[in-house]
Amino acid sequence: MFYETIANKHGLKHDPFKALVAPRPIGWISTVSKAGICNIAPYSFFNAVGEKPHYVIFSSAGRKDSLLNIEETGEFVCSLATWDLRFNMNMTSASVPRGIDEFPIGELTAAPCRLVKPPRVKESPAALECKHWKTVELPPLEPGGESRNSVVFGQVVGIHIDDRFVKDGMVDTGAMRPIARLGYMEYSVVTPETMFAIDRPSVEEAMAKLKLKAAE
Ligand SMILES: Cc1cc2nc3c(=O)[nH]c(=O)nc-3n(C[C@H](O)[C@H](O)[C@H](O)COP(=O)(O)O)c2cc1C
Repeated sequence: MFYETIANKHGLKHDPFKALVAPRPIGWISTVSKAGICNIAPYSFFNAVGEKPHYVIFSSAGRKDSLLNIEETGEFVCSLATWDLRFNMNMTSASVPRGIDEFPIGELTAAPCRLVKPPRVKESPAALECKHWKTVELPPLEPGGESRNSVVFGQVVGIHIDDRFVKDGMVDTGAMRPIARLGYMEYSVVTPETMFAIDRPSVEEAMAKLKLKAAE
């Protein structure tokens, strides 16, 4: 099947886009308002987009509390959402009014950060402390319409890792069991059983393939 996304007549029960761009890492974003009230919510339009310097992005569909707090204070933290914290994470996605701290709703402990004011999730094995760089408003669906999606860029200025997950100088990602978002209400989880490694090919190996094809 093929369909054009502006008309979006896919004929399926739901828009399949997010079931195809999957799995998406979850940025569990904590912020603090100018008034000092904490906020935490999951965002799966989230990813790392550069290193040295390190940058992450997340996208807010509408002007949600996380975005508003970041505009006010210029800082946010991304804690790693894991299998053990899946229900806690989900609880923090409830659309409660601005000014309500979701840490107690998610039964989470707010731990202090080093370089930024918003707290990280103490129970999470890793967290990224971020300083807001810029927000990009994505173009609206219709020309002249209102932008729906705001992409927030943050520079990662500090990283917390629970030392129990560092083995032989490497982070044991599988042991952390990070969860990721698929389409619909589905998630996936990274475990040692589902991980695999592949070495990158050398230029010689890649060119040898071309020579083989040419010789055919
Ligand atoms: C796993 C998961 C991923 C989500 N990803 C996004 C997202 O990428 N963008 C978005 O706007 N909302 C997303 N949501 C919904 C927000 O978490 C929800 O609207 C929340 O109330 C926003 O909180 P805030 O207003 O405190 O920032 C997601 C929800 C869940 C459960």
